[in-house]
Amino acid sequence: MKLPEELQFIANARMEQKRTTARIDGQVCIITGATSGVGYHAAKRLAQGGAELNLVCRNIEKAVKVQAELKREYGAKIELVQADFSRLGDVRSAASTLLKNCSRIDVLINNTGVHMTRRTVTEAGFETAFCVNHLASFLFTRLLLDRLIESAPARIIHVNSQGHRFGGLELDDLNWERRRYKGLQGYGASKTAQLLTVWELADKLKGSGVTINAMHPGGVSTNIGMNNGLLFQWYQRLLIWPFLKSPEISGEAIYYLAAASEMANVSGRFFNQTVDEKPAAHALDRSLGKRIWKISEELTGLLEMA
Ligand SMILES: NC(=O)c1ccc[n+]([C@@H]2O[C@H](COP(=O)([O-])OP(=O)(O)OC[C@H]3O[C@@H](n4cnc5c(N)ncnc54)[C@H](OP(=O)(O)O)[C@@H]3O)[C@@H](O)[C@H]2O)c1
Repeated sequence: MKLPEELQFIANARMEQKRTTARIDGQVCIITGATSGVGYHAAKRLAQGGAELNLVCRNIEKAVKVQAELKREYGAKIELVQADFSRLGDVRSAASTLLKNCSRIDVLINNTGVHMTRRTVTEAGFETAFCVNHLASFLFTRLLLDRLIESAPARIIHVNSQGHRFGGLELDDLNWERRRYKGLQGYGASKTAQLLTVWELADKLKGSGVTINAMHPGGVSTNIGMNNGLLFQWYQRLLIWPFLKSPEISGEAIYYLAAASEMANVSGRFFNQTVDEKPAAHALDRSLGKRIWKISEELTGLLEMA
């Protein structure tokens, strides 16, 4: 039975995923949120594939352990940069350190993400998921963009989510001040905003040799959501995790998008792991995308920099 188009993502998740044996020896890769789950497994696979890694992490103790493990197992060259993506000041400092340390950037993977069941705000007053999942990756990418272009061919990958399908993005209430906060929609809003900016950036990067794609890493058992209350943690442990896959599959999918030669010129697409997929209609609204692009530039202070 063929599923309706908007449910095709369920069938895509069951499809055989692509893999690559291509190596990326010496390529400089930056990955955020590599201390756990999807990011950790992606870092591991990239190290196995020969990449030089720059791990941008909030918790430096956890990052040091990952660094030691990947050096020991793969002899990988790994640098660490500390940043809390709920603070845009940290995003700026991390980007500035990386621009000093990396004379080239071949692959940028924006993976950091959170799911909040209750509305919280960052020090600057942004709803937390919106800031961590969208504004931070938007700013980080823009600050590193010239170096990526100088290093072309280069690839940018946003670890997005099927959660974008929950919707929730309202431009006049990005921080959920006027609506009752719903965790899934808060998450959906942040991922929709990120996805909308992918199409915009892909257009701007045409002809530059730099590609940008977004991906859903699969339904995998990680720590996402475990920052919430005990009841939610218990629910996740008992009722959600048993049905999820290992995040190793996400690492393999991210590696495919980062390394496969057939992905070299593919840009402006959404992948369900490695399957090219049509996102929800609200995430394809280009006029909304242009507006969220401009708003994101304003909120992250990029307009003042221009
Ligand atoms: N798991 C899934 O089924 C699934 C499905 C769809 C999409 N995703 C996406 O996959 C990505 C990775 O998530 P995951 O599932 O691997 O969850 P995870 O195990 O919780 O990993 C999230 C990573 O992001 C970091 N992080 C969280 N908040 C941060 C902040 N304020 N500043 C800097 N780093 C921060 C975490 O650091 P700490 O180690 O310090 O906490 C960790 O390294 C996210 O973008 C998520 O939306 C996951």
